[in-house]
Amino acid sequence: LVLVLDFGGQYNQLIARRVRECNVYAEVIPYTTSLEDIKAKNPKGIIFTGGPNSVYKEDSPSYDKSIFEIGVPILGICYGSQLMAYKLGGEVATAPVSEYGKTDVEVDTSSLLFEGVSATTTTWMSHTDYIAKAPQGFKITGHTGNCPVAAMENAEKKLYAVQFHPEVMHSVEGQKMLHNFLFNVCKCTGDWKMDSFVETTIAQIREKVGDGKVLCALSGGVDSSVAAVMLAKAVGKQLTCVFVDHGLLRKNEGDEVEAVFGPDGPYDLNFIRVNAQERFYSKLAGVTEPEAKRKIIGEEFIRVFEEEAKKIGAVDYLVQGTIYPDVIESGLGKSATIKSHHNVGGLPDYVDFKEIIEPLRMLFKDEVRKAGLELGIPEYLVYRQPFPGPGLGIRIIGEVTADKVRIVQDADYIYREEIAKAGVEGLGQYFAALTNMRSVGVMGDERTYDYAVALRAVCTADFMTADCAQIPWDVLSTVANRIVNEVKGVNRVLYDCTSKPPATIEFE
Ligand code: XMP
Repeated sequence: LVLVLDFGGQYNQLIARRVRECNVYAEVIPYTTSLEDIKAKNPKGIIFTGGPNSVYKEDSPSYDKSIFEIGVPILGICYGSQLMAYKLGGEVATAPVSEYGKTDVEVDTSSLLFEGVSATTTTWMSHTDYIAKAPQGFKITGHTGNCPVAAMENAEKKLYAVQFHPEVMHSVEGQKMLHNFLFNVCKCTGDWKMDSFVETTIAQIREKVGDGKVLCALSGGVDSSVAAVMLAKAVGKQLTCVFVDHGLLRKNEGDEVEAVFGPDGPYDLNFIRVNAQERFYSKLAGVTEPEAKRKIIGEEFIRVFEEEAKKIGAVDYLVQGTIYPDVIESGLGKSATIKSHHNVGGLPDYVDFKEIIEPLRMLFKDEVRKAGLELGIPEYLVYRQPFPGPGLGIRIIGEVTADKVRIVQDADYIYREEIAKAGVEGLGQYFAALTNMRSVGVMGDERTYDYAVALRAVCTADFMTADCAQIPWDVLSTVANRIVNEVKGVNRVLYDCTSKPPATIEFE
């Protein structure tokens, strides 16, 4: 285990991920964790993350310097490196100009950290403060034109620090450096693998649940599907999955979920499909405001789920598909609510259960997918693009009606079919949305006054920012042609070429 001590940097999760890519298990913990708790976890190494502050500020996140004495190797990154320097008696200063972006660093390749790294290596810098003087006992192992201490170490005490960010891709040999820290310095064994994680988790669940009853709300998305299969493998028929079809799923999706998890599928579990389309449509009638729609869908989802749960009666455990990014909270700063992204408006009130099980709590999204493959879940489910909880409800601008759902489902289906046929790759998310706009067209010799469908496709790494994808023109024109010909009620197709920001990925 390697602990990533989070000082509020924007790459904290990325660091944990890169460590796990070396088959070493890593956890992100807040800098407020006590030294006792850290020691109790018995880590092989600790990584201090970056952070937005200056070490001299009074309210800056800090840590007691006794952590440097417990004999566990530490790697400080950016703010973490400055904190190490500052706490151990070095000097940190503010540069007149920030160093930002790709920067060549001259490194000492005799350092364990830089073994096999080029003497001049390109790294990613993003800082204003810098280490002006290394603490006593430290050797400077890297510098740039502007930064006298881009890397330093006290090899005897196993303390290492780098001003740049080895975890980001722009640091060309960054992964090598992290690898060196983990294996040369921390002496990690590198035996954390997905198959063993899956096996151990299933065994742990089996032991915990005993002969108890388990209930799972299955959405058909990647997370809940992987969680459900893990539970099914652990306790079989003691698990009941409730799948609420809210009528806002993509075309055929309900049947696809049923084919995998239902009685004809490969898994041994109880599957209940609730066809609640009409209920949702009637609740949504006349509602046009996006957040109001989200709220209604979220609440109704819980009500339907509760009703099913009541029929089942008391259970011992409720399964949640929570994943690691949902769990980690840096606790620093609070951003504005642009959209309330929660699929369900919290936990159901009236479900009678004793405890929650979250088998994916420690996994990143790509690890969840790996676990899914390991469990034998079909690839089309595992690599499914993200789909919002409120579903097509937020891809229909304005009021939702059954007929509009049909239009957007059919248009989206054609779009996905043609993208697959053309083998377009690298798309983060793509879908059709129904604008609330109607315009004049001509079909045969008749005037039409029908809806415009918008096509969206984005490339994105984290869904926080996104670029509009450049879908080949011939693919777009085939899609547009098919939609206006095959989908009744549409006479115009538009392509959304906005990036996020200022637009968002979804339309509402
Ligand atoms: P936006 O539209 O905010 O979307 O750029 C970013 C990512 O979040 C998804 N999204 C949602 N997911 N409930 C969800 O579970 C929601 O209400 C919701 N709204 C947006 C969106 O599909 C994209 O992947």
